[in-house]
Amino acid sequence: MTKAHVIVVGNEKGGTGKSTSAMHIVVSLLERGYDVAIIDLDVRQKSLARYIENRQVYADQHNLKLTMPDVNTLACATDGTVGEMEQQDEAGFLALHDKLRGSFDYIIMDCPGSDSYLSRLAHMSADTLITPVNDSFVDIDLLAKVNPDTYKVEKLSLYSEMVWEARKARAMKDRGTIDWVVMRNRTSSLDAKNKRRVHDVLTQLQKRVAFRYVPGFGERVIYRELFPKGLTLVDFKNDSNQKMTLSHVAARQEIRRLMDDLKLPGWDQASVAAAE
Ligand SMILES: Nc1ncnc2c1ncn2[C@@H]1O[C@H](COP(=O)(O)OP(=O)(O)OP(=O)(O)O)[C@@H](O)[C@H]1O
Ligand SMILES: [Mg+2]
Repeated sequence: MTKAHVIVVGNEKGGTGKSTSAMHIVVSLLERGYDVAIIDLDVRQKSLARYIENRQVYADQHNLKLTMPDVNTLACATDGTVGEMEQQDEAGFLALHDKLRGSFDYIIMDCPGSDSYLSRLAHMSADTLITPVNDSFVDIDLLAKVNPDTYKVEKLSLYSEMVWEARKARAMKDRGTIDWVVMRNRTSSLDAKNKRRVHDVLTQLQKRVAFRYVPGFGERVIYRELFPKGLTLVDFKNDSNQKMTLSHVAARQEIRRLMDDLKLPGWDQASVAAAE
């Protein structure tokens, strides 16, 4: 690849699984031999950068060779008028983006669970935008207003409109397109009715807003336990300290499926090479 493919993981709703999904995508790409850089745009929590810090510590303590991405963070400007601060944020973002773009195959940006100027810049630079949503109409509300009786989509809401603006800005800047993928996360094996309704609404929405809706990850305790060790389910085969259960095997299949569903450049060939 001559310049990095930019993957942005975003959703203005907090806690939908952006950082967890981003980390699993990062390690999946590293496993296939790609050079990966991350930019953590959640300037307060920095969950993705901290996840990777934990990974380094765990690898050192257990004498493990774990794949590592290049980690980058950005701070928001705090001095000046709103316009001046946005200018400073934009200059910092573009300088980092341009530096990484020539040296890595993939750049993964993890956005905060709220609107920020940096997050908007990230959305405009995305080649692939991934939005995890949970099986709840509270999550869907940021994508679209849904009729409470019929569950029909009535109009787009905040986040979909922001992505729409980002798509327009991107087309004007370099005629680029953003492949928007909405993935479900934490789908429960129970509550079949709600699950089906969310599925129906996302199916209606995907045509209207032009995103690709993919299955994503189920609700599994293991995702909550991996953070302190900095591990992902992709690593389990490399760490003999981790016992594989059936749920872990199923989770690994979901991750593999998501990676296939993303249709990233070169991924098909990388998958074939890894299987051989
Ligand atoms: N598939 C899953 N199954 C179970 N727990 C999950 C799953 N995905 C994420 N979680 C848990 O949900 C919580 C929120 O996940 P995460 O921090 O990745 O979300 P986020 O969208 O990045 O949040 P924020 O908006 O605060 O940045 C965490 O405790 C995480 O461990
Ligand atoms: Mg996060």
